[in-house]
Amino acid sequence: MPSQPSAAAAGSFKVGGDIEVHRLGFGAMRVTGKGVWGDPVDGKAARETLRRVPELGVDLIDTADSYGPFVSEDMLRETLHPYRGLLIATKGGLARPGPGIWVALGRPEYLRQCVLMSLRRLRVERIDLWQLHRIDPKVPRDEQFEVIAAMRKEGLIRHVGLSEVGVEEIEAARRYFPVATVQNQYNLVDRKSEAVLTHCEAQGIGFIPWAPLAFGELAKAGGPLAKTAAELKATPGQVVLAWALKRSKVMLPIPGTGSVDHLIENVGAASVALSDAAFAALDREGRKAH
Ligand SMILES: NC(=O)c1ccc[n+]([C@@H]2O[C@H](COP(=O)([O-])OP(=O)(O)OC[C@H]3O[C@@H](n4cnc5c(N)ncnc54)[C@H](OP(=O)(O)O)[C@@H]3O)[C@@H](O)[C@H]2O)c1
Repeated sequence: MPSQPSAAAAGSFKVGGDIEVHRLGFGAMRVTGKGVWGDPVDGKAARETLRRVPELGVDLIDTADSYGPFVSEDMLRETLHPYRGLLIATKGGLARPGPGIWVALGRPEYLRQCVLMSLRRLRVERIDLWQLHRIDPKVPRDEQFEVIAAMRKEGLIRHVGLSEVGVEEIEAARRYFPVATVQNQYNLVDRKSEAVLTHCEAQGIGFIPWAPLAFGELAKAGGPLAKTAAELKATPGQVVLAWALKRSKVMLPIPGTGSVDHLIENVGAASVALSDAAFAALDREGRKAH
């Protein structure tokens, strides 16, 4: 593995057909305080981590107005504006009444406020990828899609993504706007979104798995993940990321951290060459553990 790893080794994907990014991205949720609330304990380390992201070839950064709230977007602006060569993907549509609490809020006027305030905080004229964090079940979804379509027409948003959705919801949204990405929880041992991933592959939609590093019991000493990692002189975390990258060409993992060392380790996953046999064996174990 090279001493300075690069996300470029993961290959690339064109988000919305026109913004090319390396497939291994970064999740900026962990640069906040406990319960994704307020400032991080070590703000210096968090800022340094963000500054190192582009140096390591990572050009897709995922954030949300609700991370902090606002702390993550504010810190991205402070450290990386004007984001040359970076795709900053943010989200809106969740209220934060307290630490660790997330409530879907999809009233059209609130979604518009989310976008306008993210534009202001990130200091951009248009958000290249804006994701609806959750479809609010208390508000007719067509009203949520309508306002997003309007903001896209107005040029406030370039591409639209969805989060935690099923195939039927993706297709319902596509009646209003093209869906560029879908962000669902997914990893080696959490395969609930397998059908959504298959749909995204068929439609050329980017699939952003969140919590990509969760691997639970499989990483135990002597277990299949630990064994494969030892054989490849990699860490279990690098192997699960390499597995995700090999699983699909539309896969865009966004491991999150507030530590430079962890960032470097995670980017190193792009250079881990998982054989077809090792991939298949891990895949089987992951499905069993699911
Ligand atoms: N759409 C949604 O609903 C949703 C929900 C959750 C998250 N997300 C997005 O997805 C991104 C990733 O999800 P996630 O942060 O929940 O999970 P993750 O990336 O799978 O794991 C992050 C956790 O693992 C630790 N970690 C990271 N790299 C490590 C390493 N090399 N060695 C040891 N520990 C390591 C981090 O702590 P340290 O800071 O100590 O490294 C953090 O506690 C988030 O940043 C966010 O952008 C989206």
